[in-house]
Amino acid sequence: AQTQSIVIALDGPSGSGKSSTSRGVATRLGLRYLDTGAMFRAMTWWMLEHDVDVHDAEAVAAAANRPQIVSGTDPSAPTITVDGTDVAEAIRGTEVTGAVSPVSAVPEVRARLLELQRAVIGEGGIVVEGRDIGSVVWPQAELKLYLTADAGARAARRALEEGGSDVAATEASLLARDKIDSSRTTAPLTVPEGAVHLDTTPFTLDEVIEKVVALAEAAEGIG
Ligand code: DC
Repeated sequence: AQTQSIVIALDGPSGSGKSSTSRGVATRLGLRYLDTGAMFRAMTWWMLEHDVDVHDAEAVAAAANRPQIVSGTDPSAPTITVDGTDVAEAIRGTEVTGAVSPVSAVPEVRARLLELQRAVIGEGGIVVEGRDIGSVVWPQAELKLYLTADAGARAARRALEEGGSDVAATEASLLARDKIDSSRTTAPLTVPEGAVHLDTTPFTLDEVIEKVVALAEAAEGIG
């Protein structure tokens, strides 16, 4: 395989540095980028917009095929639309963040997005971030990473991203989502077989990007 066909799967809990790392690595290696969390958030945004009770799994399942979700794959300018509406900002709000885990646990939602994700990955040449990329979406990825960081460090990063949210409240919300994401029956957050486990707590973003780029270059398909 050539550089253009490599698939790098980056999984891990919220705030582990997946997004910044994935975008940085994709930019460095000239690869595309897919944020699967944004797709689950977009699905959730649609459910809220259409007054679907996100805690009613049957109602969510029945609607799962309705939203048209389109993800851009430029790491320097990620975009996402639902039925043609740009939702890039709306999906980062507290309403969506508070509702995304129960929606993501619905098997019909996962099946629908799995299809879309595999279509985007296509011939490869992409860094894909999520919770189940190396385990379910693309187990044949040339490089699989599992990123973690201490809960306190993750909350501090996320609170900063959210423009100075309360760190303790952010940590509680992160841990609550981790718990739901890890314990759901379909495609739970897990360390994929063959994944390199990287604890990012002691490193700067640039250091983490360097490590992943080095692993990618060492992996079959690049160099
Ligand atoms: O990475 P993020 O915080 O934007 O993800 C939002 C939610 O989406 C997360 O709480 C769980 C869900 N998710 C998922 O279930 N599977 C993925 N591959 C990506 C995200």
